[in-house]
Amino acid sequence: MATMEELRRACRACMKCELGKTRTNLVFGVGNEQAKLMFVGEGPGEQEDLQGVPFVGRAGKLLDDMLAMFDLKREDVYIANIVKCRPPKNRDPLPDEQDACYPWLEQQLAVVRPKLVVCLGRIAAMRLIDPHYRITQQHGQWLARDGMEITAIYHPAALLRDPRRRPEAFDDMKDIAAKLKALG
Ligand code: URA
Repeated sequence: MATMEELRRACRACMKCELGKTRTNLVFGVGNEQAKLMFVGEGPGEQEDLQGVPFVGRAGKLLDDMLAMFDLKREDVYIANIVKCRPPKNRDPLPDEQDACYPWLEQQLAVVRPKLVVCLGRIAAMRLIDPHYRITQQHGQWLARDGMEITAIYHPAALLRDPRRRPEAFDDMKDIAAKLKALG
């Protein structure tokens, strides 16, 4: 099986969809390759595209703050996205772009083999949990699949837009941190 570095190198040359033409940098993933907890976002934004690292903009700062509330750091988890290249003007990644990119995420999951997977927002949840996923109703619910437990929480960008949702996200994060702790 390929190592994460080999995958990253191969992905750097990826032109399987149109997003490859407009990326500044590939945003493959970051964090601990042996993490028990993996976060999956939607796709890189402007800052991520410029720096080649997921969740480094305002939403990323909020994610870091949420992790810190439960004594977690980026280095304790692995963070990736459904699509590895920035969609123009931060639009949602199109279904065929997600399809083209998904095998990279599958290979990342195979390397990390996390016990817990947390989708950040609706797009990731629709891809990883259920195409009809309703984040307002289903966030925080767990599903077991392929030796992993999967859930979704509000995307940090949604929490920036609507701070009233933060208490629910805090509760979900508390549950995630407790599950992680129980894993030892
Ligand atoms: N939003 C995402 O979904 N992913 C990132 O990497 C940054 C912002």
